[in-house]
Amino acid sequence: MNQFNRIISEIEPSRSVTLMAKAKEMQREDPSVINLCGGEPDFPTPERICREVEKALKEGDTHYSDFRGNADLRARIAEKLLTENGVSCTADDILITPGGKFAVYLAVRALINPGDEAIWLTPGWVSYPSIVQASGGMPVAVHLDQEEEYKVHRKMLEAAASDRTKLLILNSPNNPTGKVFSKEDLAEIKAFLMAHPDVSVLSDEIYESIVYEDFHAESLAADPDLSERVIVVNGFSKSSAMTGWRIGYLMCRNQAMPVIQKLFQHTLSCVSGFLQRGALVALDCKEETEQMRKAYSRRRDLLLRELGNVPGLKLFTPEGAFYAWIRFDVKEDSQTIATRLLEEAKIGGVPGDAYGEEGGTFVRFSFAASDEVLLEMTKRLRRFMTDL
Ligand SMILES: Cc1ncc(COP(=O)(O)O)c(C=O)c1O
Repeated sequence: MNQFNRIISEIEPSRSVTLMAKAKEMQREDPSVINLCGGEPDFPTPERICREVEKALKEGDTHYSDFRGNADLRARIAEKLLTENGVSCTADDILITPGGKFAVYLAVRALINPGDEAIWLTPGWVSYPSIVQASGGMPVAVHLDQEEEYKVHRKMLEAAASDRTKLLILNSPNNPTGKVFSKEDLAEIKAFLMAHPDVSVLSDEIYESIVYEDFHAESLAADPDLSERVIVVNGFSKSSAMTGWRIGYLMCRNQAMPVIQKLFQHTLSCVSGFLQRGALVALDCKEETEQMRKAYSRRRDLLLRELGNVPGLKLFTPEGAFYAWIRFDVKEDSQTIATRLLEEAKIGGVPGDAYGEEGGTFVRFSFAASDEVLLEMTKRLRRFMTDL
């Protein structure tokens, strides 16, 4: 009997990825299925980004590029981090990666030794604990409460910390809740970090450009007391509707960078140079990103209006990202409810337990879909709750 890698064999498949594939398959047989499982903008990639890549291909920009990424793209990202996020770094602190997910993987692999612990906040993105496990580490969940609007308290982090804690993983705006860290949350996190100087931070800022009302996603890397300890992960998937391009980046100002770079050299070599040409243009597509943000904001208001008074449902008001994180006041667990929603109401969402949610029955629905689709989804959800 073949012995596959034990650690990887035991990791759960990504539930959002597998559910998205299942709902897509169902959709092919029954077009009335509404698939809100994925985390993908429903807009096309802005035209001028695509045109730049066509040009790059015509110019023959099809060979290995600098393993760190194109120098002009890295310099432009360093400038963006300074002017938009207050993070001071240089082009040498940037690595271009095939998507933000791989940037998370590289950072975790570089920081975690077997047996080390990484704290992640739940509800949180499905891939953090799996990537930590794949690195031989132990994910330690700190559960935040919807009743408390997902506030972070230093004492929760202290309770999860041990002498094996190496990493704290943060994500704001958060997938799946849409929560954006407040100044108070960041102060609590900082107090914890100042008392634990050996703990590094991975700050996943992939939804940074999608925030609502007056919410603003601040980067901990902008704090001079912490900047050298924070690895920032970001990318183009969500801000520029470029999920299929697989392009993202990380910023690291400490000695983890050469370790990350070595792993990258031996696994990916580099990101396609012609795609990076498109990413460079994407950083100037402010107007297009803003148009998409406004559409998400309108759809968020639609959901809040249509679902606000449905008995048995509670929707956390998203402060950023494009997910409706809905609590179902039912006895069944989230897996059962998500399966029933797909089979009976033909709405695909991801069950809350995939995000480490243990405090109730939650399902995550993406609202990166047209107003018509979302209106139909709210009608079906209302009916589903009445029939329940
Ligand atoms: C919280 C979070 N981080 C990172 C990613 C990775 O995005 P990508 O690899 O497409 O850049 C995602 C994608 O869904 C996400 O939700």
